[in-house]
Amino acid sequence: MCSVPATASGAATSCYVDGEALGGRIVHGEGFAQVRLLLARQCGEIIARIHALPVERAQQPPQKHPRQIIDDREAQHVVLALAGFLARDGRRKAQRGNMAGVQLNDIRKAFGSATVLDGVSLDIEDGEFVVFVGPSGCGKSTLLRIVAGLDEPSGGEVRIDGVLVNGASPLERGVAMVFQSYALYPQMSVYDNMAFALKLAKAPKGEVDAAVRAAAEKLSIGHLLERKPKALSGGQRQRVAIGRAIVRKPKVFLFDEPLSNLDAALRVRMRYEFSKLHEDLGATMIYVTHDQVEAMTLADKLVVLSGGRIMQIGAPLDLYNHPANRFVAEFIGSPRMNFLSGVVAAAPDGGAQVRLQSGGSLALGAAAAPGQAVTVGVRPEHLVAVSAGPVRGTVRFVERLGASSFAYLDAPGAEGELIAQAPAGAAWRVGDTVALDAAAGAAHVFDESGAAITRRAQADTAISQN
Ligand SMILES: Nc1ncnc2c1ncn2[C@@H]1O[C@H](COP(=O)(O)OP(=O)(O)OP(=O)(O)O)[C@@H](O)[C@H]1O
Ligand SMILES: [Mg+2]
Repeated sequence: MCSVPATASGAATSCYVDGEALGGRIVHGEGFAQVRLLLARQCGEIIARIHALPVERAQQPPQKHPRQIIDDREAQHVVLALAGFLARDGRRKAQRGNMAGVQLNDIRKAFGSATVLDGVSLDIEDGEFVVFVGPSGCGKSTLLRIVAGLDEPSGGEVRIDGVLVNGASPLERGVAMVFQSYALYPQMSVYDNMAFALKLAKAPKGEVDAAVRAAAEKLSIGHLLERKPKALSGGQRQRVAIGRAIVRKPKVFLFDEPLSNLDAALRVRMRYEFSKLHEDLGATMIYVTHDQVEAMTLADKLVVLSGGRIMQIGAPLDLYNHPANRFVAEFIGSPRMNFLSGVVAAAPDGGAQVRLQSGGSLALGAAAAPGQAVTVGVRPEHLVAVSAGPVRGTVRFVERLGASSFAYLDAPGAEGELIAQAPAGAAWRVGDTVALDAAAGAAHVFDESGAAITRRAQADTAISQN
């Protein structure tokens, strides 16, 4: 099935992927063609191994139909593999410009007198996996529906591929959305559910079949194509819903809480599969969840929302390590961060000596003014048991998770219960009184408005007297 000219090895060639010519050189031609593709000079070199692809065919410029090559099922594998390479290294952007980036500019949405989105601006790059996360009712689904074109904003602009799409239908925008409910057609087989959009668009039968089978194979549901949705498990239905989006080859995938109907174990597995799918397809994906663990594990870029506004945007670990405000500090991380109120007693050399309400004091590397009221934030894993320290608490409950244990303590000066990770081997019991200190460099300081006070680059000198 693969016909590579005998003289092919070393020959210069160009390969058409998604209607675009990529220059390259055939390196090997025995059973498969390995094509070394040289992209734009600044992109360096990418090697793609093209299995069983008739090279003459890949070399033909697309004529009438720009998708002529990718309609071929084998060539589609090439496209997927290449898209993965290109997106992973950020090279696709350099090569083709910001093709399927999404830009939101000052998006507002009101339902009657209720403002649900209050000026959301955001730049999503081509190929990025962006997660909108925030508590129930903060406007995540509304924002996603506005990107999809299922809802119009009351104000602001949505751009996809740099093109203003306000007023355009989801189809015109080139997006596909997967809903929490999956929204499968119950009377149709899995195959027909997945083929529906392409058939509606009057795509040739062979093209529909190739697209459905390739997506089904990718999602390991090839053996379920004849079944009806009611004869599938939740996880299988979920895959069909994703498959239905994949066959449309959208520029942007939109997912609204796609895992919330699944049990805990399946959610963990599907998280992994979402990451893999993104790596394979290299497409821009926007994913909504209220689950911060899901958000942390999936996102290239996290967007934390509260009350219709963006609280912070950044890579998951940046948000974990450098929350810009108390909301993000509390929302990201499980169990949540502890908060202790205090007053800056002295500010030596750009640092702050914070007198806690509990009476203890902490020396922190934050630039605060003497007399300033502050809140100190410390994550449970950063509270260290010491013989004498600035925080004392009485253990009220111990949560033993196997690999780690967390103690919930009554501690004067702490907002709510203080949560501390019990040291390995420590047999903390209900009623014990323990002394704790913040690990050096691990405390966060917030001002009265909740904004983080910039920390010095160097570690906090910590400590501490009672
Ligand atoms: N069609 C509507 N009419 C009136 N209010 C609406 C409408 N759609 C959403 N809202 C309100 O807008 C707010 C944001 O809703 P949205 O569905 O975007 O929240 P969410 O962040 O997705 O929450 P969840 O995590 O519960 O799904 C909510 O207060 C909701 O009640
Ligand atoms: Mg929602």
